[in-house]
Amino acid sequence: MCGIIGYTGSQNAVPVIIEGLKKLEYRGYDSAGIAYYDGNGINVLKRKGRIAELEQYISETIHNCQSSVNCQLSTINCSLGHTRWATHGEPSDINSHPHVGNKRNIAVVHNGIIENYKQLKEYLQNKGVGFASETDSEVIAQLAEYYYNGDILETVIKVSNRLEGSYALGIMFCDKPDLLVAVKKDNPLIIGVSKHGNFIASDIPAVLKHTNKVFYLEDKEIVILYKERVEFYGIDGEPITKTSEIISWSVDDAEKGGEPHFMLKEIKEQPKTLRDTINSLIKDGENKKVLDNFNIIRYNKIVITACGSAYNAGFAAKYVFERLCRFPSVEVELASEFRYKDAVIDDKTLVILISQSGETADTIAAMREARAKNAETLAIVNVVGSTIAKEADYCIYTAAGPEIAVATTKAFSAQLITLYILAVKFALQLNKISPELGNSLMEEIVSVPEKTALILEQVDEIQKHSSACVVYKSIFFIGRNIDYAIALEGSLKLKEISYIHSEAYAGGELKHGTISLIEDGTLVVAIANCKNLHSKIMSNVEQVASRGAKVIIVGNSPESDIVLPDCNELFSPSLSVIVLQLFGYYVAANKGLDIDKPRNLAKSVTVE
Ligand code: F6R
Repeated sequence: MCGIIGYTGSQNAVPVIIEGLKKLEYRGYDSAGIAYYDGNGINVLKRKGRIAELEQYISETIHNCQSSVNCQLSTINCSLGHTRWATHGEPSDINSHPHVGNKRNIAVVHNGIIENYKQLKEYLQNKGVGFASETDSEVIAQLAEYYYNGDILETVIKVSNRLEGSYALGIMFCDKPDLLVAVKKDNPLIIGVSKHGNFIASDIPAVLKHTNKVFYLEDKEIVILYKERVEFYGIDGEPITKTSEIISWSVDDAEKGGEPHFMLKEIKEQPKTLRDTINSLIKDGENKKVLDNFNIIRYNKIVITACGSAYNAGFAAKYVFERLCRFPSVEVELASEFRYKDAVIDDKTLVILISQSGETADTIAAMREARAKNAETLAIVNVVGSTIAKEADYCIYTAAGPEIAVATTKAFSAQLITLYILAVKFALQLNKISPELGNSLMEEIVSVPEKTALILEQVDEIQKHSSACVVYKSIFFIGRNIDYAIALEGSLKLKEISYIHSEAYAGGELKHGTISLIEDGTLVVAIANCKNLHSKIMSNVEQVASRGAKVIIVGNSPESDIVLPDCNELFSPSLSVIVLQLFGYYVAANKGLDIDKPRNLAKSVTVE
């Protein structure tokens, strides 16, 4: 998973590309590079590491080359850029993109994985083509150069038809230095059209400063970008007409809003995210239409499948579906497992897919597996126009807007609240709850955003608790029932950004092995919102405290260290999670870590 951007227009392309790359850095940050035509051929500047390192390298190149062609960098109007998350070949200068053909006639940036790259490489090597890198992506540049006969469209079609796997490609031709070509399959690509020039990009924030008018490229569609216009073609080479869309996000939506990290900004946005998501489902618009027309009666099984935090949202929702709908079968599966387990599902199964990005490879595969077995799919997705959103039978969009921090917060909360509303709706359809109870549950749900705002008022208190916890080497999160579900998310959030080992346990399960790990100097965060299980979780607290653990209680009873507003326990994960996100955030902040881009991770996991 990588980020690609291209620009051709009247502005100096290098700063435009660098700025765009910074907005895409969440997609991968192993290395970055740019390509441009230098008057002789295509030149590439690329560096292992973050975009800041590439930027430094570019400015040194300009500074050191009084008379060389690189000085033309300030007059370049057309360029391609790439930020990489390594899949094939280690992060290194040479494996960085853009990749060029041996004659430097063609440069390519690629997001995705070419599954048949070994065969293609062998094919080209047999024709005498040498390779510089270990990547699958270089094969595309070499293949394009091998086929190129002056006809760009024909070349791109030929290349595209030989590639197996997933790709979003930006391509530059040395003899047509003012234009760019792009094509995609199974990875996102948008086209931005501005007054001063045109863009290709993996995601909208990369172009938002310049334009809010975009086209979404569909699989196997080709676009040719000229300075003043864009042309679209089908894979048969025939011109096609596409309709642009206007993006309502402001540039500010995609910026940090004055907070030190996107993650904190996104945590604080949650009351609004929740309100917007609820309104989209109960007031007016596309989400409400989908929900109003959806009928659960024809299914006898629900399978919820997703990855990471989205899975945790599904896991919490299982308790709500079971409690309210009394549905015979609600299963929650990790998408990476579901896709290979030969699931027992059929046309009476509803498969609910949850994904912020809508591009997670395992979740896409799970969706396709479900559809192949005739199950119906309902997706809960944040990114409009993403693969899951487009391919699922039904799609509900969470209204979280762009989420930039790698660790999800507001999108998770939007997923949870959407799932609660689905559960109430289904329970009513199934006649498992009375309309009066349905109304009062909806009132509870509508009050959740205000309650999350109240928790955010306790941010200093939560920061104080968290800051004292930096010293722990291992942190356990415990809870029972739905509190256990949210403990999983608390633990994931903490470990992914603070690099502190952490586990989540069902309170009653500790005595079956885990309690042997509890000793002086262990920290246990206990989540205690389930009223009928209060005494049970408090006995678990006693058990760990008596073995030397320091305990922090997050719950709605007065003895809690962090006291949550009163709430129906089914919806309490939406409150607990705010505390747990802030806890993880401040522990990591105290360690001075790169919170928005934790090591080894990327925002959108488009590879298996
Ligand atoms: C954790 C996190 C990941 C994602 C997971 C699924 O903070 O963000 O665990 O939840 O990679 O991603 P999406 O929701 O895009 O399918």
